[in-house]
Amino acid sequence: MDKKSENVVWHNHSVNRELRIMKKGHKPCVLWFTGLSGSGKSTIANAVDYLLYQRGVHTYVLDGDNVRHGLNGDLGFSDTDRVENIRRIGEVAKLFVDAGLVVSTAFISPFKADRSLVRNQLDDGEFFEVFIDTPLEVCEQRDPKGLYKKARSGEIKNFTGISSAYEAPEEADVHVETDGKSVEQCAEFVVNALIDAGIVK
Ligand code: PPS
Repeated sequence: MDKKSENVVWHNHSVNRELRIMKKGHKPCVLWFTGLSGSGKSTIANAVDYLLYQRGVHTYVLDGDNVRHGLNGDLGFSDTDRVENIRRIGEVAKLFVDAGLVVSTAFISPFKADRSLVRNQLDDGEFFEVFIDTPLEVCEQRDPKGLYKKARSGEIKNFTGISSAYEAPEEADVHVETDGKSVEQCAEFVVNALIDAGIVK
């Protein structure tokens, strides 16, 4: 990215991250959901969000389809645009972490390098890659938005898993194999991982 902000000076705020953590009673982090279109990322992220909310955790969900209506409305699905999509979301997620929240992001985020970039921008233990592992055949069979059908017929170009790559995580922090499991079971699995990691009680 072209840096156009050389004469900008960073401000340290008097209400800092440590004070926010003390007040909220839980640590902040990013739950970075990744998976194919139709894998269940948004559905499971929302279910996790609700479970955390019930525990009194301050949360927020950033969702691919929604963010592409606003902040990233200028981006399409070329490799370059996907990289920029994830870069911007990484920056936004980092702000939410600074604000002391558990932020769930639900983007395909198909490229390993981009996911690593976001991880490296955060402190140790603040980034959880959550792989929503649903086989392509299952996603294609579900086809909730009819997009796989359009991708197969060539009506949609660069469709993830069909005509554009998806680089699955090899060592996800949380590996959710969804086949045969309910949304609730998957969501509980993720929340338990956060409890084990000492993020929430
Ligand atoms: S990415 O790859 O992370 O930049 O994609 P993301 O921002 O998560 O957006 C994915 C949603 O956009 C719709 N859509 C497509 N997905 C993949 N490839 C192509 N070409 C495409 N065109 C539109 C689709 O509804 C995705 O939503 P989910 O929730 O993943 O099914």
